[in-house]
Amino acid sequence: MTIQRDSWGSKLGFIMAASGSAVGLGNLWKFPYITWENNGGAFVLVYLVAVMILGLPIMMGEIFVGRAAHLSGAPAYKKLGGLGWSKLGYLGAAAGGIILSYYMVIAGWSLYSFWQCLGWSLGGYDMPSSDAFGNFLSNGPLQIGLTLMFTLMNVGIVLRGVGRGIESATKIMMPILVLLMLYLVITAMFMPGRNDAFAMIFSVDFANMPAMGYLEAVGQAFFSLSLGLGAMVAYGSYMKKTDSITNSAIWVVSLDTLFALLACVAMFTIILSVPELKAQVSAGEVGTVGMLFITLPQLFYTQMQGGVVLAPLFFILVAFAALSSTLSLGEVVASMMIDRRGWSRKKAVLITSGVVFCGSIFAALSLGASQTLSQVTFRDVPVLGIIFSSKSGILGLLDHLAANWLLPIGGLGTTLFVGWFLKNDFILKELGVKNSNVVFNLWIWCLRIVAPAAIIALIIAVATGKDFS
Ligand code: PFF
Repeated sequence: MTIQRDSWGSKLGFIMAASGSAVGLGNLWKFPYITWENNGGAFVLVYLVAVMILGLPIMMGEIFVGRAAHLSGAPAYKKLGGLGWSKLGYLGAAAGGIILSYYMVIAGWSLYSFWQCLGWSLGGYDMPSSDAFGNFLSNGPLQIGLTLMFTLMNVGIVLRGVGRGIESATKIMMPILVLLMLYLVITAMFMPGRNDAFAMIFSVDFANMPAMGYLEAVGQAFFSLSLGLGAMVAYGSYMKKTDSITNSAIWVVSLDTLFALLACVAMFTIILSVPELKAQVSAGEVGTVGMLFITLPQLFYTQMQGGVVLAPLFFILVAFAALSSTLSLGEVVASMMIDRRGWSRKKAVLITSGVVFCGSIFAALSLGASQTLSQVTFRDVPVLGIIFSSKSGILGLLDHLAANWLLPIGGLGTTLFVGWFLKNDFILKELGVKNSNVVFNLWIWCLRIVAPAAIIALIIAVATGKDFS
């Protein structure tokens, strides 16, 4: 890895940058819409359990690997474990490239929403018709153009190296995003759909959850916490030996989970409060996929003091939250080529971004612009039907493959590496702790038994077609 290995300016710097990577479209866009699709309650509970027993220990494991090796990606695993383990780094980079290719498309929507809100703020809000979002999605050139804009922004920053830039930017933007989110939720609390929203999110009924919900909840925990592909290994490699891994990981996991839940509460409340929206979403007239971009303007322009100013600002912050995530993904992908092929940073960033953008074009056209790309499915194909479930369209297929399979498998690799391969004495020495204590034992046993058992059991269950409901 050729980036200069400086370290975060402070523990807060790490927490902000790592939460910048974690908090993104996964929280604001994906969590609310898949929670809605899986009928809330039980799905949220499984998600929270996955965050606790898989997310937190694996995040600590990844940060540990980066910090102990003082390297990121494949070289980190190679340094601590030898050549065989470096494959884990390469698998992560591949998953990163896949995620980046469709993430850029959704990130582009935030630019469009910003633009649209600016228009509404200046010219007055007019609730869009139910086919407006569908028309937007199926506008191929627009989708590709927005994706390209976002890709260029990302390339510009990753080219410079992510070091200090991310840290200072996230330190300013993240707190504003937290405040704005709180204001949004407080405003939503005065809307009539509040109780229904809480009931949907927090009352648990397993009979109501589709079988795939278990896999999706676990996959979402990995996706949202940026785990399973080495992003936290990279960020951990800049961490000072004196900063506590446990403490930092708890902060990042809590912030990320809070964001996801707040986004869900705000969006569900709006949908369940506005009869037209509720009817449109329930009847599937507006795809749940666009929830973030469809529902929030409603809140800003019809319920909120100062909404005309805050709406465009909010979508700038969404774009920023997405950007602080794409930076970490871009870094993981580019650094693989720097490490593996010895490419310069410039060459690695330009070529990998070019390849990823080609993938993005397919994802961008799979939202309605191209019938073939939008409808492709492996539902009835042996093996592939199990892997891809009933998903259709390139974007949906890529998201399902990466989040629900590649990331959990990458995470499984980290649990085996830290839990079984590395020696306890080595880990304790690295952590600067003389004897193992309760927290250490809990962590290691989670990595050794609980987390791998949960991931393997889930994979076997899904692969053998078990219906959980
Ligand atoms: N955690 C990000 C989100 O929730 O939007 C997505 C992501 C970023 C996944 C970085 C994986 C990653 F390495």
